[in-house]
Amino acid sequence: MREGTATLIRREDYQAPAFWIRTVDLTFDLDPAKTLVTARMQVERNTAVAHSALRLHGEELNLLRVLINGESVSFRQEGHELIIDNAPDADFALELRNTCAPEKNTTLSGLYTSGGSFFTQCEAEGFRRITYFLDRPDVMAIYTVTLRADKSKYPVLLSNGNLLESGDLEEAGNKARHFAKWHDPFPKPSYLFALVAGDLVAREQRVKTRAGKEHLLQVYVRRGDLEKTEHAMNSLIASMVWDEARFKLPLDLDRFMVVGVSDFNMGAMENKGLNIFNTSALLASPATATDQDFSRIESIVAHEYFHNWTGNRVTCRDWFQLSLKEGLTVFRDQEFSMDMAGSPSARAVCRIADVRQLRAAQFPEDSGAMAHPVRPDSYSEINNFYTATVYDKGSEVVRMYQTLVGRAGFEKGMSLYFERHDGQAVTCDDFAQAIADANPGSALSVRLDAFKRWYSQAGTPRVQARGVYDAAAQTYTLTLTQHNPATPGQDQKLPQVIPVALGLLSQEGQVLPLQLQGATEVLNEQVLVLEEAQQSYVFIHVTSEPVPSLLRGFSAPVVLDDGLSDAQLLVLLQHDVDAFNRWEAGQRLALNRILGAVRSGTPLQLDAAYLDAVRKVLRHPELDAAFKEITLTLPGETYIAEQLDVVDPQAIHAAVEAAQVQMAAALRDDWTAAFEANQIKTGYTPDPVSSGRRALANLALAMLVLDARSTGDTVWPGRAYQRFKDAGNMTERLGALSALVAAHADLAEPALARFHELFKDDALVIDKWFALQGRTPELAGEKSGRTFARVRQLMQHPDFTLKNPNRARSLIFSLCMFNPAAFHRADAAGYVFWAEQVLALDAINPQVASRLARVMDRWNVLAEPYRSAALLAIRRVSAKPDLSPDVREIISRALA
Ligand code: ARG
Ligand code: ZN
Repeated sequence: MREGTATLIRREDYQAPAFWIRTVDLTFDLDPAKTLVTARMQVERNTAVAHSALRLHGEELNLLRVLINGESVSFRQEGHELIIDNAPDADFALELRNTCAPEKNTTLSGLYTSGGSFFTQCEAEGFRRITYFLDRPDVMAIYTVTLRADKSKYPVLLSNGNLLESGDLEEAGNKARHFAKWHDPFPKPSYLFALVAGDLVAREQRVKTRAGKEHLLQVYVRRGDLEKTEHAMNSLIASMVWDEARFKLPLDLDRFMVVGVSDFNMGAMENKGLNIFNTSALLASPATATDQDFSRIESIVAHEYFHNWTGNRVTCRDWFQLSLKEGLTVFRDQEFSMDMAGSPSARAVCRIADVRQLRAAQFPEDSGAMAHPVRPDSYSEINNFYTATVYDKGSEVVRMYQTLVGRAGFEKGMSLYFERHDGQAVTCDDFAQAIADANPGSALSVRLDAFKRWYSQAGTPRVQARGVYDAAAQTYTLTLTQHNPATPGQDQKLPQVIPVALGLLSQEGQVLPLQLQGATEVLNEQVLVLEEAQQSYVFIHVTSEPVPSLLRGFSAPVVLDDGLSDAQLLVLLQHDVDAFNRWEAGQRLALNRILGAVRSGTPLQLDAAYLDAVRKVLRHPELDAAFKEITLTLPGETYIAEQLDVVDPQAIHAAVEAAQVQMAAALRDDWTAAFEANQIKTGYTPDPVSSGRRALANLALAMLVLDARSTGDTVWPGRAYQRFKDAGNMTERLGALSALVAAHADLAEPALARFHELFKDDALVIDKWFALQGRTPELAGEKSGRTFARVRQLMQHPDFTLKNPNRARSLIFSLCMFNPAAFHRADAAGYVFWAEQVLALDAINPQVASRLARVMDRWNVLAEPYRSAALLAIRRVSAKPDLSPDVREIISRALA
């Protein structure tokens, strides 16, 4: 049932619940068509708030019975609420009985079926689709759950916590049923509830914590997938070890279970003791998963595991505080991945990948229709706020705490946070206070209120840096200016607290010592804390005109304008000791050239200075392959678009394509050498060094096949095809295939056909097959439009379905979200397609539909004719009267 008008929920309206639910005893009689749910709860009035009715949330439920202390009671149903006006003042037992229809549930929120098994997804508000409840994170209860189901179809019955008992049921006429009873000793909010029932098998491992306590780890998947769970299990064990070592946080349950499901809206979910994963974030084998998949799985397994403390033991008071758990947990998984990577260079590559992701997804969000603070002020559908801002900018905010109080100080702050708040539902303020209080007098604590503007102000601050060197006085004066552009609903912003890590280099690339006027310390690197609109810093004893290396390691999520010349950027690219800024200098050099061409409307022509510089990187004897690959990869088209006030996606794409073609030709011999030098003859392991080498070999191959298109050479396409056929792992196979497909080589067609034939029974690999085609860059000129035509055609492919989110994303999102030049067409066909698919998906799964709707967040900055055509398409979607609240919110914000 959809409501005509969505209600706006405001952070300032938060009120504590009128009742607490202390214990819940749930019994499920599982049946795909009609599942019977019986809930017995101990309820207590919250005397701290005004006396009011008991209002329980419920959606898509069929209510059968309501009893209080065993007696029937009068109640009302209004919208999505079950209201009991005269609930007792004394503690009481509430018993409810209702049914729901899991197999009809295509939203994948609440209880649903997938591949013949039962799964749940309750965050954020899915529990109310299972039974009536105070479905809000500040109501925490102890759960006991009994599952009853057909034993042959559902031999495995799982819920949170510990297994109390299990066995066969002796029911009249139905002796094939069995049961399992679970108990979770930790009070939890309903969004962390989970159940799984199905024909699954588990990989198991017993491990000991430092204190010597033994735990059982299990990874449950469908029968054929067991061999693909080794990497997930190893990642889980590594996460446990890391969290104990770094933050002294041990596993608190005897048993920790992870389950894979192929129909899932997000990556994974941290249900207490029973994490549920999209199979795409869990299953991997060398033959079917790429290096990227392996590292994504490692980080998502870690992320969900880390939530056990940051999210579950301490949870959110309300959904506005989502970043309290998500920003912090992303920060933790990023730190984990860096520690796992090992070498300083591999750590930098991790950091670069995270920043690239932030710039590709969060920066556009912060400058578009959906711009919102890390702690939003209002929402109508909370599922729309599981965003790059809450997650990734939230993580950058946590990283700034660490920068301001130091690593040891941050760990002290975390300990204080758990000391104060274990078992509670709290706010971002509580977290900030704990970190500050554990570090009195620190750069954070003395300006905590100003720092917290990171939670309340949307938008990406702009920082301008200008330096003046006085040769006579040997001083270098650096002036930093900040400005935060207006975002919807926030015209005026106050200055933010921006840690700027910096170093100075000589023109020859030597490190220059840093000494601030009035300070005694002499350092190689320093963190300045910018907190005013403008501040100047004078460095003394600077013996030659320096090249500043600013915002090292991306010390704050801002856009930096350092005004550096090409010559200065070249010094940084060659010599900076900060690997992040070294990479950044290379990106800036490329960006300047691409933007120059786009702004002037002239064809891009790469100059010898640039080509020489990138050749030096490619030929460098000491740099890692991974670093070379990431440095030689051009900035993404979305990030380029971010730099422009008016965006012409076709002009950007033409410039990027020209840059690639010219880099391919000019560095032909260097690419050949890089390709040859990075062949790995030994068995596959997804470690950072080998995966970096494979990445560079793949990039080199793509360049060589692209170049062959210009020269008419047939050798490299032939080699790519051969490599595609013979590859011993998916990284190399997909790399070779994508080189052929991206260059629109003749051999792309037979290779695609062969790939499909080889992997037709492996859904996750077929997703890659669709995604590769959806992401194929359009060619400039007469062959343009091929990718778009192909996507339309693939929509009819027998393997395509809108019902599986991974599959829908693999084709539709690849085109609309990750392939700007194929999507933004002068004939508006891309926008018509978008509108059709948003509406079609909305009828099945509003969360997936609303994510697709967000593609138009930045329609307003498009050049004509795109802008007008995009607006028409948005209006067409908006005209549909019964849009889900999810899509309605996105569309209304776009039109606001
Ligand atoms: N808490 C999960 C994670 O980040 C995400 C689940 C969000 N689900 C949703 N339907 N919004 O690990
Ligand atoms: Zn999370």
